[in-house]
Amino acid sequence: MPLIQEADYGTPASKVEKLVTLKIDGFDVTVPEGTSVMRAAAQIGVKVPKLCATDTLNAFGSCRLCLVEIEGRAGTPASCTTLVSSGMSVITGNERLRKLRRGVMELYISDHPLDCLTCAANGDCELQDAAGEVGLRDVRYGYKGANHLGSEKDRSNPYFDYDPSKCIVCSRCVRACEETQGTFALTIDGRGFGSRVAAGQNEPFMSSECVSCGACVAACPTATLIEKKVVEIGTPEHSVVTTCAYCGVGCQFKAEMRGPELVRMVPYKDGKANRGHSCIKGRFAWGYATHRERKSVPMIRENISDPWREVTWEQAFERAASEIRRIQAKYGRASVGGITSSRCTNEETYLVQKLVRAGFRNNNVDTCARVCHSPTGFGLSQTYGTSAGTQDFDSVEQCDTMLVIGANPTDGHPVFASRMKKRLRAGAKLIVIDPRRIDLVRSPHIEAELHLALQPGTNVAVVTSLAHVIVAEGLVNEPFVRERCDPEDFAEWKAFVLEPQNSPEAVERVSGVPAELIRKAARLYATGGNAAIFYGLGVTEHSQGTTTVMAIANLAMATGNIGRPGVGVNPLRGQNNVQGSCDMGSFPHELPGYRHISNDVVRAQFGAAWGVALDPEPGLRINNMLDAAVEGSFKALYVQGEDIAQSDPDAKHVIAGLSAMECVIVQDLFLNETANYAHIFLPGTTFLEKDGTFTNAERRINRVRRVMKPVPGIADWEVTLKLAEALGVDIGTYAHPGEIMDEIARLTPSFAGVSYKALEEQGSIQWPCNDKAPQGTPVMHIGGFVRGQGRFMITEYIPTEEKTGPRFPLLLTTGRILSQYNVGAQTRRTENSRWHEEDVLEIHPHDAEQRGVRDGDWVRIHSRAGETSLRAKITDRVAPGVVYTTFHHPLTQANVITTDFSDWATNCPEYKVTAVQVSPSNGPSAWQEEYQRHSDLSRRIAAE
Ligand code: SF4
Ligand code: SF4
Ligand code: SF4
Ligand code: FES
Repeated sequence: MPLIQEADYGTPASKVEKLVTLKIDGFDVTVPEGTSVMRAAAQIGVKVPKLCATDTLNAFGSCRLCLVEIEGRAGTPASCTTLVSSGMSVITGNERLRKLRRGVMELYISDHPLDCLTCAANGDCELQDAAGEVGLRDVRYGYKGANHLGSEKDRSNPYFDYDPSKCIVCSRCVRACEETQGTFALTIDGRGFGSRVAAGQNEPFMSSECVSCGACVAACPTATLIEKKVVEIGTPEHSVVTTCAYCGVGCQFKAEMRGPELVRMVPYKDGKANRGHSCIKGRFAWGYATHRERKSVPMIRENISDPWREVTWEQAFERAASEIRRIQAKYGRASVGGITSSRCTNEETYLVQKLVRAGFRNNNVDTCARVCHSPTGFGLSQTYGTSAGTQDFDSVEQCDTMLVIGANPTDGHPVFASRMKKRLRAGAKLIVIDPRRIDLVRSPHIEAELHLALQPGTNVAVVTSLAHVIVAEGLVNEPFVRERCDPEDFAEWKAFVLEPQNSPEAVERVSGVPAELIRKAARLYATGGNAAIFYGLGVTEHSQGTTTVMAIANLAMATGNIGRPGVGVNPLRGQNNVQGSCDMGSFPHELPGYRHISNDVVRAQFGAAWGVALDPEPGLRINNMLDAAVEGSFKALYVQGEDIAQSDPDAKHVIAGLSAMECVIVQDLFLNETANYAHIFLPGTTFLEKDGTFTNAERRINRVRRVMKPVPGIADWEVTLKLAEALGVDIGTYAHPGEIMDEIARLTPSFAGVSYKALEEQGSIQWPCNDKAPQGTPVMHIGGFVRGQGRFMITEYIPTEEKTGPRFPLLLTTGRILSQYNVGAQTRRTENSRWHEEDVLEIHPHDAEQRGVRDGDWVRIHSRAGETSLRAKITDRVAPGVVYTTFHHPLTQANVITTDFSDWATNCPEYKVTAVQVSPSNGPSAWQEEYQRHSDLSRRIAAE
């Protein structure tokens, strides 16, 4: 596979529909109005030399290398900043232009280290290319004049270096940081000859506000900003396009290799979710794939207190199969189950649920989506008829008002956040509903119109109150509702939202949000043009998570903000394939494509295809499996790619359940926390070793392509097949994951048109993709809802049972940080830990003072469920009465304190509301010290 070189047209494509015809070097060219002369030339294969221009950034016109002649115009305008016009006649090359360009290049090269042969970018440098293109043969000024060759390098960032001696001050990095990333961390400091790129207040990158997204590095045409890995390994020589395995944005990257080694991940311009951008995780945090703690050999042990013993794959499969057979024979068919992973591919996930249903012969299969977005699936299917978000990411470009609730996109979904920020800088309005002042509330050149800092647990009340104002003030989009929604449901809902308990004044008492702010937010959402709602786990992980999803869906229907670009309901999915794992039938009650297991027709269809009669009874959810284990009726679990001991709520209960089982099979990259309770460990593969697909938050099916051989020698999908084979059950024969996708497509109407061939041709596909929509469906519910008429649901606010009181007066809510990911299994094994070495507790100055807590002090936080200790960070980002932490480090284990309360409809845990008390402490609590002493993981991490 050669190195993939994407064309660079010099300036972004124009979106104007009107076409213009001009002549370039005598050839006719027809392009959209608003196109630059440089781009128009590139489209007919004429490459005008350039340095400061690149098609990911707006034209800047600083280097003067791209000069052209235009008939009838004086001088030599820059082709990157000159727009085409009808009848224009352009000359891109003649002696005059060559001379001018050579003159420009001479100036650059006279102040550039002549170390091409030893430069890390040799062969991958636009300055080198441009020198060749303009025919530079001599530098008349010599190399001895004033120069920047002795400038000090900045190597503070663990992933990239900055060498100012190579800088040509083209500002591409500065513009990338502003336009693409939206962080504004860079500037050109000084003037004239003294100009240099500076991070923050002229400080090292690591101490500036840089978030290490890598956009400046990707934009730099020289070796000034360069990945450390390129310096270490050399320039890449071949590449493969694949998809990031962290969050639900689904960014595509070119994995660039040299021999068998991965050199760098370069964001793919044709990636339809990321459009050439990346965040620190996908771009740089992939070193865990080759971390020394990776397990490559299967292991077994009799008891969880025994040491692990390495075995062959055959021995491991045989042990797993004999244990499952023994347990089912002794305790019954329903005593075993499986958990699929939202980190794994669609094909892997499909096979695990197939193994459970067709091999274990029950429906005890669940997924980690249970603990994050299961309310989205249920809530949106009830109201609209589909368990997924309604828009594509491109839709944000047409949005006029964004309502962000219970999501922190700049940390959780950073690449999409950059696109949101771009639109906000262009004038869209923003409403944030969140207990915490997330970065979007105020960041460079962005300020939210309204921030509703509600008390955790009061989402339903606040969103229903927005509906109250919309109805009371006559802001309902009556024609839309009449045409598209069920009239009886609407009438009932209308009467309900008008009830006095939903008025802003009543809700102010419950939520702490001033009534006037609720009114303003409702008016802005209903009248602010195209309005879109973006939400995350701050909506779903509540005892009323499903109710809030329905309230959000109601709001969009009532205002007609659904079924066209720029509007809609957009769940920001957590993990890379959380959408896919739900689509693939990972829930105990649903077959692939969200069809209920009790549906005789659908069950018969799957039964016939799989050659087995399927159980019509829904199986156990994760929490039910654990309850049943504690009670003694559930005895064996196959967990693929999920660390439930760390990620699920009420860790004590999870551990009690796992400890009570007779056979726990963990398939993972590392010996994770769950593996502490396992009897069989099957080494898994990273996304770099996988072939398959992930489905992102916009229902986009992206290809994941194998970049390197599987470290354990066998792919994860093959492991599941071989486990089935050892059990004596036939769950299919496939030569390649593409054949698994073919089976999925045959059995799942919304995937009917999906195949690897179609994915190769189209790059990616958004489901539904079938005869009605052969190219997929970027925006759903155009002209009508999938379920027919949109269904308004009653969303009565029922306060959580988790209440504050004298013992537990504060409310804890949790979230993520940009550099770490979930339980940190991957990111903690990379340099990303330099940004976030430990979880801290954010506490308001008033609450801290009351408790005698100073910034950086150790504090003990305890709830009804448990206690842990961590350092305090005093900040007014959280309101008084609210504390906040992340859950990336096993030493702090926020889930020791979260309770077992969960969503009424889906059992999604109430991670976002825990009543706690905080008090000063001397350091880690007793269990943490014990953990530190005895946990292999902690010992190893501490030893690093
Ligand atoms: S890495 Fe990203 S945030 Fe940092 S300076 Fe470069 S563009 Fe800006
Ligand atoms: S660091 Fe690179 S992108 Fe930035 S101004 Fe210098 S040469 Fe241009
Ligand atoms: S935004 Fe998400 S998908 Fe994109 S690079 Fe970052 S972690 Fe990966
Ligand atoms: S590329 Fe046009 S001025 Fe630099």
